[in-house]
Amino acid sequence: MTTGAEPQKFLGRVEFKRGLEGAITNETRIGYIDGEKGWLVYRGHNIEDLAEHSTFEETSYLIVYGRLPTRAELARWTDRLVPARPIPGYLIDVLRKLPKEAHPMSALRTAVSILGCHDPLADRADIANCERIGVDLIAKMATITGAVMRIRNGEEPIPPDPKLSHAANFLYMCTGKAPDVLSARVMDANLVLHVDHGMNASTFTAMVIASSLSDLYSAICGGIGSLKGPIHGGANEEVMKMLLEVGAPDKAEAWVRTAIQEKRKIPGFGHRVYKAYDPRAKVLGKFSQRITKLYGQERLYQTAKTIEELVVPALGGKGIFPNVDFYSGTIYYSMGFDYAMYTPIFMVGRIPGQVARVMEYLPDNRIFRPRAVYVGDLNVTYVPIEQRG
Ligand SMILES: CC(C)(COP(=O)(O)OP(=O)(O)OC[C@H]1O[C@@H](n2cnc3c(N)ncnc32)[C@H](O)[C@@H]1OP(=O)(O)O)[C@@H](O)C(=O)NCCC(=O)NCCS
Repeated sequence: MTTGAEPQKFLGRVEFKRGLEGAITNETRIGYIDGEKGWLVYRGHNIEDLAEHSTFEETSYLIVYGRLPTRAELARWTDRLVPARPIPGYLIDVLRKLPKEAHPMSALRTAVSILGCHDPLADRADIANCERIGVDLIAKMATITGAVMRIRNGEEPIPPDPKLSHAANFLYMCTGKAPDVLSARVMDANLVLHVDHGMNASTFTAMVIASSLSDLYSAICGGIGSLKGPIHGGANEEVMKMLLEVGAPDKAEAWVRTAIQEKRKIPGFGHRVYKAYDPRAKVLGKFSQRITKLYGQERLYQTAKTIEELVVPALGGKGIFPNVDFYSGTIYYSMGFDYAMYTPIFMVGRIPGQVARVMEYLPDNRIFRPRAVYVGDLNVTYVPIEQRG
């Protein structure tokens, strides 16, 4: 029995948008997106500039500490990251025991949790401790990902090579071969492009967890869990399936025409924030052209480019342009990564952004506590179980 009470009696009439669209959570100096202009900025620097001139090491320092490092600061930063790369044997043992069919993102999440269990200082919620754990996880995420990939493929994990850059070492730990210069460069730029992206769902998840003064391991586990979702980290897989289905540039026109007629969403296009060209897609498009050529997969790039040239004139007026996922899949596919590894690579890039935003929020922390509009019943009579049938 219910009263059917009107919800607005209790909360007042509340205007809200689902998914917290447009809600402001905090002030930040870390990053800025102007979706109308197609800008993405890290600490004041345009992303195109960073992707062209910077490295993952430099950009992660920039995002965490607020400015590009001097030569001496970069050397000290590298001297912290490199020794933090190896992962302990007990962690590799756990990764080996996971079911083969476990999603690699679930394995990443588990790995961070295990590291947290073994850290006796994990729960000290001060900024210095947060930074200590953050730096460790920025360094280790690539090693964890490499180990997860190799164990999945029935291969032995490869220990990090301290002589290689973060990106080159990541590829080395995945493939067992020191990468060529172009592949290392493209992976480096790709990680830079993924470092931060405003209050995206996974970064916000990490911040919400940390705002209860829980430990950073828990926050990053949550960040990984959120990124795992197919409408967050996994759209590039759909792009690859589309490109393989289309098969060749001369098949693109008929495919796109049908997709538009049927009002289907074309993977890798459109974005909640960008209503102009996603600047990350521009950079990745150029790298895709070079890397697909290197690996003999030019047709993939040409098919993607043709689709772009057909979709933009048709849908650009509605603000539909390629997003970051449109070309990233062609790069990973050419390099030989399985679809399931695409989102873990995203996480290797995104971890500095999550750490930086948690660290920025912590000194003036306030627990996140939004409300929901209650539209349910009130004063429902309790019926004893014997009488409920
Ligand atoms: C990213 C995405 C979820 C953003 O969604 P959103 O902000 O809620 O936008 P909407 O779904 O409301 O779309 C607005 C309009 O653009 C159209 N549209 C959006 N994305 C489209 C796409 N990829 N292809 C064709 N049309 C698209 C919608 O059909 C809608 O048209 P309508 O107004 O005529 O109904 C959506 O663009 C999408 O699903 N893209 C494909 C998946 C993808 O690439 N995701 C990765 C994002 S980084």
